[in-house]
Amino acid sequence: MVKIGMLTILFSWLTISSTISITVHRDGCIYNRRRSAVNCRGENWSSVPFSFLQNKSFRTLDLGFNNIRLLNNTQDFLQVQSRDLIDAILLDNNQIEDLPLRLFDGLTNLQVLDLSYNRIKHISNNFCHITSLSNLILDGNPIESISKNAFVCMKNLKYLSLANCNITRFSFDTLESLNAKEINLSGNNIENVNDVRSSSIKL
Ligand SMILES: *[C@@H]1O[C@H](CO)[C@@H](O)[C@H](O)[C@H]1NC(C)=O
Ligand SMILES: *[C@@H]1O[C@H](CO)[C@@H](O)[C@H](O)[C@H]1NC(C)=O
Ligand SMILES: *[C@@H]1O[C@H](CO)[C@@H](O)[C@H](O)[C@H]1NC(C)=O
Ligand SMILES: *[C@@H]1O[C@H](CO)[C@@H](O)[C@H](O)[C@H]1NC(C)=O
Ligand SMILES: *[C@@H]1O[C@H](CO)[C@@H](O)[C@H](O)[C@H]1NC(C)=O
Repeated sequence: MVKIGMLTILFSWLTISSTISITVHRDGCIYNRRRSAVNCRGENWSSVPFSFLQNKSFRTLDLGFNNIRLLNNTQDFLQVQSRDLIDAILLDNNQIEDLPLRLFDGLTNLQVLDLSYNRIKHISNNFCHITSLSNLILDGNPIESISKNAFVCMKNLKYLSLANCNITRFSFDTLESLNAKEINLSGNNIENVNDVRSSSIKL
């Protein structure tokens, strides 16, 4: 009885919402066409729901607080039709360890990428092919290594956030090659402060 009641409520809500340009995925994503946004936050997704995204037109995608790991992920954003509209992807608070190199292919307009509070340990040149990126948020990852030229290729990077990553050393080369105007290294334990201070980057 309760179940039937809930289904009725859900059904009528879906009917109403279709008139105000909202599409709901049965496993929990809301597409708001008017706001040009897809919100899949906190829905226990274990991978990016590409089939839901495929034919939607949106600028922001919120996939925060899910169970996404992305290891061995063979899919990528090339299958999303509106990929060159997308300017922000939030993947904070997931289980991401590795970023498949080609995942973000075709996102020619991506400016904000939030990967905070995941399990990323190593940063190499994963982000090089997202040349439009201006804000990269990597807070709260247990970062063990950052390759020397990890950020060299990111010509449009303005803000890099590496707060609360338990970083103890930061190479001068990495800092020097960074185009970002601002880097947030708060909540770390950087011993080699001189290296950091000798750069012209605002901390
Ligand atoms: C979340 O998804 C996993 C499988 O991916 C499942 O085992 C688990 O029960 C789900 N948790 C909830 C709260 O639905
Ligand atoms: C998306 O559009 C393509 C053609 O542009 C079509 O082949 C495909 O079936 C559509 N997918 C969905 C899930 O509607
Ligand atoms: C999945 O990834 C792991 C770690 O990168 C790798 O060792 C393994 O071979 C991969 N498995 C498949 C099926 O690609
Ligand atoms: C940093 O270290 C503290 C203490 O060992 C730990 O509780 C925390 O989870 C670590 N943070 C990250 C992002 O690894
Ligand atoms: C740096 O990051 C910390 C932790 O996320 C945040 O509280 C602080 O406001 C940030 N600082 C700036 C200048 O953005």
